[in-house]
Amino acid sequence: MSKNPSNNPSIEPVEDEISRASFIKVTVGGMCLAYAAAIGYPVYRYLNSPVAREAAMSAVTDVALPGADKLPLGGVLLFKFGPYPSMLIHHKDDSWVAFDSVCTHLGCTVQYHPEQDKIVCACHGGQYDSHTGANVSGPPPKPLTKFNVKVATGTVTVTRA
Ligand code: FES
Repeated sequence: MSKNPSNNPSIEPVEDEISRASFIKVTVGGMCLAYAAAIGYPVYRYLNSPVAREAAMSAVTDVALPGADKLPLGGVLLFKFGPYPSMLIHHKDDSWVAFDSVCTHLGCTVQYHPEQDKIVCACHGGQYDSHTGANVSGPPPKPLTKFNVKVATGTVTVTRA
């Protein structure tokens, strides 16, 4: 009688059982991941949809920015209006404006360039007028959303227009 396990026919079914069990676990695990992705991706898309974005924006009506009245001429302050990035600009002519910083092309965050007095999107080169938010160059199809700005001693209040 041989002591070598490979010559013992009773050991082979156990190895088959282990590999069959592993195969079933991997298959079931893969199917669970596929189902999770199939359900999770549409939910993710819904939560990031323009409708959901609009609902989140409309839930917030104003934002108080304590100390923002001290923003120097030509300065910019980044803040969040609800969940979205926004900017407050104090122009050199002492006018104040605030915009939603989400590019109207594909949603990148735009930046104010004081040396050019322009709002620029680095993703595809879109440009906006820094006083009106109008789309002036590049692919953005619409102007930036402009907010109302009220400056008082000690605070600046930004409200939805
Ligand atoms: S996302 Fe801003 S120009 Fe394309």
